[in-house]
Order: sequence, then C-alpha cells, then structure tokens
Amino acid sequence: MVNKNITSIDDLSVKDINLISNQAIKFKNSKKIQVAKNSKNIFNLFLEPSTRTTVSFELAAKKLGYNSININFEKSSLSKGETFTDTMNTLISMKPDALIIRDKTNFSPQNISKHLNIPVINAGDGTNEHPTQALLDFCVIKSIYKNKKISIGLCGDIKHSRVAHSNIKLFTKLGYKLHLIAPSYFIDKNEVNKINPNIIYHKNLKKINDLDVLMMLRVQKERIPKNGKNMMNSFKKDYCLLSEHLSSKPYLMHPGPVNRNIEISDNVLDNYPKSLILNQVEMGVYLRMACLKYLLK
Ligand code: NCD
Repeated sequence: MVNKNITSIDDLSVKDINLISNQAIKFKNSKKIQVAKNSKNIFNLFLEPSTRTTVSFELAAKKLGYNSININFEKSSLSKGETFTDTMNTLISMKPDALIIRDKTNFSPQNISKHLNIPVINAGDGTNEHPTQALLDFCVIKSIYKNKKISIGLCGDIKHSRVAHSNIKLFTKLGYKLHLIAPSYFIDKNEVNKINPNIIYHKNLKKINDLDVLMMLRVQKERIPKNGKNMMNSFKKDYCLLSEHLSSKPYLMHPGPVNRNIEISDNVLDNYPKSLILNQVEMGVYLRMACLKYLLK
C-alpha cells in the first residue's frame, strides 16, 4: 500500500481538504479529545527556526496520546558535520510512525518521502510550500464563513513565501477568488499563473477594503540574496499596514512571525479588532491533530 503524505497541497484532493478541515474544527469545538489506544512515535525534525509550528506539532501529538520526539539542527549530529542522509538513516532505524520535517532545501520532504514507508509531513521547505499552514488558515476562514467563496488577498513577499505558495494552491483548488498585492520584486507572475491564471494582481493597498480577508506575509529577509535591506525598506514605505488603510475592515491574518512595522504597524497589530493572527496560532494545534489522524489511522 502506498502511504499518505502531506508534503504539498498537491498531495490532497478537495475531499481530503474538507475531511481534514472538518476534523480540525471538530477537535477545536470538542470538550474532551479521545486519546488513541495505540501510541505512536512522531519524529519532528526541524532544521530551520520555528516557534508556532514545532510547538503545535508537539502539542497535537501529545493531545492525541502519541509520543512526540523533537530533533532540531543545533541538538542533532548535523551540527557536528553528519550528512543529511546519515542523519535520516539513523532516525529511520528507530522506526518512527511518522516524520515531520522542516528544511531550508526546497522539495526535501517530497524527496525523503519517496524512500520511506511512513507518512511525511512538510512543515516548510525553503521557499516552496508549507501545506499545514495553508490548511490551518483555511480552517480559520471556514470557521467564520463556512463554505462561502469569499475574496482573499495575500500581500507581501509572495515570491519567497512558502506559506503564500501553499495558500495559492489550496484556495485555487477550492475555487476562491484570489488577489495578490505585491511590488514586482516580491512576485513572480509566471510562477503564479502556472497555478492559477485568473488571479488578480495589485501594486498597492488601494483595494484592500474590498476584500473579506487580508493575509499579510513576512518579508523573508533570510532568503533574499542581495538587496534584502533595500527591498525591506521600500516595502515598508509602500505596504506596511497602518490603521488608516483599513476603513471597511477586512479580517486580518499573518502566519507569523511578524516583522513589526515592516508588514504591519504596531498600532494595527496591537489594536485591530478583526485580527485573526492568534486564532491562526490556536487553530494550528487542532489542524495538526487532524493531519496526524488523517495520516495515521
Ligand atoms: C512561516 C514559515 O516558517 O514558513 N511561519 C510559520 O510556520 N508560522 C512563515 C514565515 O516564516 O514567514
């Protein structure tokens, strides 16, 4: 039997997305969560920094009654010079039931999954994808709007953002109207058009009040080879969200971590009444529980 993975939104059908999101929302609304009869060992290999994603995967596994084993770069033998393949072989010899991986190299979870017969979840691979973040974003939106096909805008460093790439794939698959708001240095329209040729592009914030949901994205300064500082300053000048930009008040999302006063001003971040940023963090735990349940049952 071919095992299931969540290495990309491409791994999931609309039916799978609905199954996982309904389960996540059900977990969120249930008072008591039934712990699994047979415990499983979930390995979390995080080779890039993370707060929300690591903690939520760990908590998700524990809430389901599973063991969660965290391995990060600094604490692993990779930091002593062990090769990635040797580290992987070492971990796999200990027979985990699932592997969650975050890596700076695009497609590394997909490539690893080809050699394994356990489920693999991509917790973010370079600039490529972050499917569980997109799924949790969808769950937050679905909790408010049910299945209404609202208009969603993504604003910021779309080119380097794995969150954006997974969200574009997911909301395109589900038939939502998408708007992308970015300066030309933060978007590759050819890449985006391959996923969805009907996306509407904007070069400024003028139309954001026509949106139901505005998702701001972090400027990925660590992934911008040259001119990073210039781009950051120029983006801040033209796109940093100030309270005067928000008249009819779309819901506001951001996957975190936020670069304060680059993507969102302090005032908006601390006081905007329709911010869903912490709801996203909370939903992350339930969504990851739902992903583990979907893959391991
Ligand atoms: C994102 C990531 O690491 O891709 N963070 C997250 O998982 N919540 C977003 C980002 O770093 O910009």
